[in-house]
Amino acid sequence: MKKSDIISLIFQEDPCKKPAKLSSSVFAPTNIALCKYWGKRDEVLNLPYTQSLSITLPKYGTWTTIHLIEKPTDQVILEEKILPLEHPFSQRLIHFLDLFRPLSRPRFRIEIHMNIPLAAGLASSASGFASFILGLTDLFAWGLSLKELSILARLGSGSAARSFWQGFVKWNRGVRPDGMDSFAEPLTVTWPELCLGILILNKEQKKISSREAMQRTVLTSPFYKAWPHQVEKDFGIMVKALEEKNFPLLGATVESNALAMHATMLTSHPPICYIEPKTLVAMQKVWELRLHGLPLFFTQDAGPNLKLLFLKQNQKEVEANFPTLKSVQME
Ligand code: PMV
Repeated sequence: MKKSDIISLIFQEDPCKKPAKLSSSVFAPTNIALCKYWGKRDEVLNLPYTQSLSITLPKYGTWTTIHLIEKPTDQVILEEKILPLEHPFSQRLIHFLDLFRPLSRPRFRIEIHMNIPLAAGLASSASGFASFILGLTDLFAWGLSLKELSILARLGSGSAARSFWQGFVKWNRGVRPDGMDSFAEPLTVTWPELCLGILILNKEQKKISSREAMQRTVLTSPFYKAWPHQVEKDFGIMVKALEEKNFPLLGATVESNALAMHATMLTSHPPICYIEPKTLVAMQKVWELRLHGLPLFFTQDAGPNLKLLFLKQNQKEVEANFPTLKSVQME
């Protein structure tokens, strides 16, 4: 199936035919996976092999303004700088926008501002694609449900499906080939004392995209076979830990889920290693602090940076040990 088939399933007519306004400004938060999405059962529609679970960071994400313009081409402005249309970021965005204007071809100026580094394993694409969908739906008054918006954002980046809600969000694997049952939804549980700290160790853009890394892992890692079973187990334990507010159980499962994901990458051919020397030093510090009684855990995505998980009552001690940490308390 093609992405355009999904657009035809959701919309009766050209989605960008009738603008309701001339510009729209929106914000979409980023989300960090506690139980990771790693591996696509459909590369085109970004359909996952497994379900996943994330936490939304309320104040981190992407601000996007989309203007309708009377110009022959789109304009992409990232952090107040015009980005050439040939730039891979512009290309990815324009291809995504093209899905929604098969006949009408309106042109847009898209202004993007993020308070997380781009493509450094900090889920910038999740909040980015969710914000593009929120901007379009506002501009063209689509009147769709959040479930449908989640499906549309997934076509841009898998993890974007989870960026429409605060708190804990699960993204259903689904079984249908068209992916209409693979959308995210919020969990009812809340945990205001839970904190997540962003530990930026290297802001550079990663050399291997998560798309390429996932594909290589699925195709070449002998460990990938074990991954879906691991996720099923971890997902169940995490939901139980959230319901019981069992922080050590949650933290230990989140950390080992991330390490299992990285184990599938390390055993790919050629190997993929997002763990840099600074990442390893920080991991060892977390383990050391934990041995001395501090309940502190980490998770890592497709980049060298870490996210630390801890409780509000330990925030001062954690920050004293990691002075550059940016702490976010859940809502
Ligand atoms: O949505 P993508 O293609 O950026 O992939 C995200 C992959 C991970 O961040 C490693 C895991 C996840 O569930 O977000």
